[in-house]
Amino acid sequence: MNAQARPTLFDPLDLNGLALPNRLVVAPMTRISATPEGVPTPTMVDYYAGFARGGFGLIVTEGSYTDRAYAQGYAGQPGLTDMEQARAWRAVTDAVHAAGGRIFVQLMHAGALSQANRFRNETVGPSAIAPKGMQMGVYRGKGPYRTPRAIAPHEIDAAIAGFAEAARLARDVAGFDGIEIHGANGYLLDEFLTDYTNRRDDAWGGPIGNRIRLAEQTARAVRGAVGDGFPVGVRISQGKVNDFTHKWAEGAEGAAIVFGRLAETGIDFLHVTEFEAWQPAFPGDARSLVRHARLAAPHLTVIANGGLHEPARAQDALADGADLVALGRGALANPDWPGRVAQGIAPRPFDPALLSPFGEIKPAELRMREALPLVA
Ligand SMILES: Cc1cc2nc3c(=O)[nH]c(=O)nc-3n(C[C@H](O)[C@H](O)[C@H](O)COP(=O)(O)O)c2cc1C
Repeated sequence: MNAQARPTLFDPLDLNGLALPNRLVVAPMTRISATPEGVPTPTMVDYYAGFARGGFGLIVTEGSYTDRAYAQGYAGQPGLTDMEQARAWRAVTDAVHAAGGRIFVQLMHAGALSQANRFRNETVGPSAIAPKGMQMGVYRGKGPYRTPRAIAPHEIDAAIAGFAEAARLARDVAGFDGIEIHGANGYLLDEFLTDYTNRRDDAWGGPIGNRIRLAEQTARAVRGAVGDGFPVGVRISQGKVNDFTHKWAEGAEGAAIVFGRLAETGIDFLHVTEFEAWQPAFPGDARSLVRHARLAAPHLTVIANGGLHEPARAQDALADGADLVALGRGALANPDWPGRVAQGIAPRPFDPALLSPFGEIKPAELRMREALPLVA
């Protein structure tokens, strides 16, 4: 059978000139293990290199903040805003490359969900509306989120410029193989997309075609900063860390606008995440969000994420229209998921104790990695 027509998890893929040896991706996961100044640490070097040794074709880093104004979300979160941070990321990318892997940075602006930011005492969002839910204890947050100040148009331009500058550092200094823009999970770009957090009456608010504008402009700016021959993509979700079950009120039509408009920016991939990636995205329509992305952006690479750690589920996501499958918790429990599954060994179940009481990288994770073979 033609591998193009019906790919398996272990088939290669070309992503804008980057040769991926298989379809298995480590999903972005915040692990608050950088220094207080946002500088990646040796612990992070070993943690990320372990996924490459375990056979993942691609690693996406944790969300990394993009400017020294309002982007930082968590204490211990890495940034990509100065030479010191960028050079320390270089140690991570060098180790991943030496282990035969490839790595993209996820660029993130926390917006109104920022819990800790050493540069500012207030938060910004599209509108001055308190976020739902409570701060995340796993990232050392406590109590309700602060009510953000509505971000001014010139500050929106500065936030976009922050993504572009971080992308340039990612390519030129840090040695990353590509960029993922965090447009998902309730952070700034998703706050603009979301009807109940974006009540603006300017060009950045109103109908969904306006609300996707910030993600769209950010994608264009990042593409402009890194040039054409470098992989760039956007991560999109309906659910949020503080509102798991949110659905786009515009349904399938909204999905066509969101994915179609992003596809026109010149990006290479869409990373679609849902709690369970195979579930219908909208009431009364059997199609998953992955399927909607595939239909609206037929020429882009689609990454599926959400509950796909069982091998059969991961394989089915490819049949549903995905090109790549990203694993979050499954990769934490099995940094060697690809190697194990290729040999017919069942993945280990994820133990939530790994992230308890806080989400930093644990010594046991590094010990697990030391035992892994180098994958050629
Ligand atoms: C500890 C942890 C940290 C996460 N941090 C991020 C992040 O920084 N950026 C992001 O886009 N998603 C983040 N996520 C979400 C994951 O990328 C993924 O979407 C989620 O775990 C669902 O996939 P899974 O079922 O394979 O675990 C995080 C998830 C976990 C478990």
